[in-house]
Amino acid sequence: TNIYVIYGGKSVEHDVSLQSAFSIINSLDKAKYNVYPVYITREGVWCSTKIVKETITELKELKHCNFNSISGSLGDFLSKHFKKGEKSIAFPALHGSNGEDGTIQGLFEMLNLPYVGNEVLSSAVGIDKVMMKDLLSLGNIPQAKYTSLLLHQWQENEEKALEEIENIIGYPSFVKPARLGSSVGINRCKNRNELISAIKEAFLYDHKLIIEKEIIGREMQIAVIGNNCPKASVVGEYIQERKFMDYNAKYVDGRLVPVIPAPLSDNISEAMRQTAIKAFKLLNCKGLVRVDYFVTAQDAYYINEVNTMPGFTKYSMFPALWEKTDGTSYSELIQILIGLGFA
Ligand code: DAL
Ligand code: MG
Repeated sequence: TNIYVIYGGKSVEHDVSLQSAFSIINSLDKAKYNVYPVYITREGVWCSTKIVKETITELKELKHCNFNSISGSLGDFLSKHFKKGEKSIAFPALHGSNGEDGTIQGLFEMLNLPYVGNEVLSSAVGIDKVMMKDLLSLGNIPQAKYTSLLLHQWQENEEKALEEIENIIGYPSFVKPARLGSSVGINRCKNRNELISAIKEAFLYDHKLIIEKEIIGREMQIAVIGNNCPKASVVGEYIQERKFMDYNAKYVDGRLVPVIPAPLSDNISEAMRQTAIKAFKLLNCKGLVRVDYFVTAQDAYYINEVNTMPGFTKYSMFPALWEKTDGTSYSELIQILIGLGFA
């Protein structure tokens, strides 16, 4: 089987993707798979490298090893590199824009190339926090109160936009670009001045924003895998040291240690697992999703977001949750996801 692990990408989550791909490639049995890393630069240039036969020891080798930058069209690249008539699958180890958002999934569909994880629709819905929450509301999934703001609405009448947000959400609130991951461009606002600067900052990243009411609570996560009969993992928790987990807390300041299973009553964790499966189905997910929650001191739980290609390093929450749920190892999990991709 040929497996194309695609990583990097035109996304603010480029670096996280490198780490996910590094772990995925190393976990694959090279006797069973021809592993082809395909690197997409931050500028969006596709690069191929030769087949990986051994353990990669350093991330930088993965990034720089014998890449041929693709000259000519993307079509030339694809027809040259995705082998026809052989059993092949793509593993888009891409997070955020241009990869976790349905764009590359559409390309795989056009190529008739099986791929790991969510299809076009669930990926596209999952990346857009407003669309995602609108769909989850249809299933009465508990969520923080939210509203959206488009750039043209803001430009037309700032005062009206601010009043509406204050009426619906109040303070404290969170302002986020609707379609970015890893907490980039997100700010907490306690008053109108902060709201204005948060809106201006978030519009640097997207022309659509989501504004949410703050929920004070613990941050917990559930991993779901499957196609038609999805299974939910136990609940995991990141111990919080900051007001919310910003990009630095997640990826720069060192690893947060997950607590699995999270200390919770059986009733609540079971209800959260059922809710995660319901969310998976409402969003038409396939393969995998990681559902992120806030849980208050009163044990009320709210879905904060879903990630259709969650971080996949050896230390990420997603594999850790499966390890603790039923002893599935990292490499077994990758095999399962590949199997689900072919199904
Ligand atoms: N968006 C990052 C990769 C995550 O949610 O794990
Ligand atoms: Mg995310």
